[in-house]
Amino acid sequence: MTSFKLNGKPFTIDTDPDTPLLWVIRDEANLTGTKFGCGIGQCGACTVHVGGVAIRSCITPVSSVDGEDITTIEGLDPNSAHPVQVAWQDLQVPQCGYCQSGQIMQAAAALAENPDMSDADIDSIMTGNLCRCMTYTRIRTAVRQAANAMKGG
Ligand code: FES
Ligand code: FES
Repeated sequence: MTSFKLNGKPFTIDTDPDTPLLWVIRDEANLTGTKFGCGIGQCGACTVHVGGVAIRSCITPVSSVDGEDITTIEGLDPNSAHPVQVAWQDLQVPQCGYCQSGQIMQAAAALAENPDMSDADIDSIMTGNLCRCMTYTRIRTAVRQAANAMKGG
């Protein structure tokens, strides 16, 4: 048995300990905002927070998150109004949208740690999140806007 908090609620699953967290989130908890892209930790589509840290759920065995606090895109903000989500909406960042929950989760974790970022810092923290629609320019602008909002300015 593996037990953890998922978006603030207790969640317990009896499954193979090596099952990727991504499959538990999508197929057992039915939270499908977290996406499968590469399955090998290289694209960022599956990014969620474990204890506030952005991780790739496709390469995270569910047994490794026992007792942890996990947040998916569905739990980032009760009103979908996290500063990153607001910036994404303001700037209409998504194109097809497939990569975007991972992009948002990556940005939100990094900004919670340090909202005072240069453009180079933003590029660095987002570099592992791929977008086949090439929305990178809007992503950087939106992260900048969210950073300013989180700094209160
Ligand atoms: S699906 Fe996890 S990093 Fe690509
Ligand atoms: S918006 Fe289409 S993959 Fe990023």
